[in-house]
Amino acid sequence: MNIIHYAANHRSHTMAAKKLIYPAADRNKDPILSVLKRCIQRGTDQIFLEISSGSGQHVAHFAPHFPHVTFYPSEYEPRLLESIAAHANGYSNVKIPMRIDVTTDYRLWGNGIFRPNSLDYVYNANMMHISPYPCTIGLFTNVGQLLKPNGLLITYGPYAFDGQITPQSNVNFDMSLKSQDPAWGLRDVTELKKLAEKNNIRLIEIVDMPANNKTIIWRKCA
Ligand SMILES: C[S@@+](CC[C@H](N)C(=O)[O-])C[C@H]1O[C@@H](n2cnc3c(N)ncnc32)[C@H](O)[C@@H]1O
Repeated sequence: MNIIHYAANHRSHTMAAKKLIYPAADRNKDPILSVLKRCIQRGTDQIFLEISSGSGQHVAHFAPHFPHVTFYPSEYEPRLLESIAAHANGYSNVKIPMRIDVTTDYRLWGNGIFRPNSLDYVYNANMMHISPYPCTIGLFTNVGQLLKPNGLLITYGPYAFDGQITPQSNVNFDMSLKSQDPAWGLRDVTELKKLAEKNNIRLIEIVDMPANNKTIIWRKCA
């Protein structure tokens, strides 16, 4: 093996080693992509911010399907930024992942790169129930400022409705989350709608997903 081949093989091996794989993200990435294909408009120069990108599997799966969209992945956990970058490596429409704590003001994110009313889409999967409620408040408060009028917030995960959780597997999941941290747990869509409306955002569609999850599409009022 000459030195150039060695360097190329070594680099791809190192990159692969950094990629975390969440089995759930592998299972849900195609059903979520189907919903995004309905939501994302044709046209040029659209901006998609992902809050809590986790391993980076979602952004890497979505980006090649929407070459006209620029994707900004982000994470709260600094240790995950390397995995996101490794998954996104090679996609020219994915920016370098940035650290975002959604409870902070968006003007602090990425050294202030995001202007108010400038984003077409914000996407957030599986954060609201696996973080304290101030993260959910921060999500809606910041997104209400950041989205363009008619821009979309797309959230994915399990939810409660009018104080009820169904089926039993989601009840068990909620109990297991609360046993790990009493501040975690499934969020109630009735409460989320009130929080959204305070931030000029309306719920427009709830899509049933596999494994008793939902994708919820929210729109910023014009
Ligand atoms: C279950 S993971 C979901 C990861 C990924 N979105 C997915 O669906 O595979 C929950 C994520 O919420 C993130 N998170 C927790 N607190 C946060 C905060 N204050 N701001 C932004 N993200 C946060 C965690 O770092 C974690 O990556």
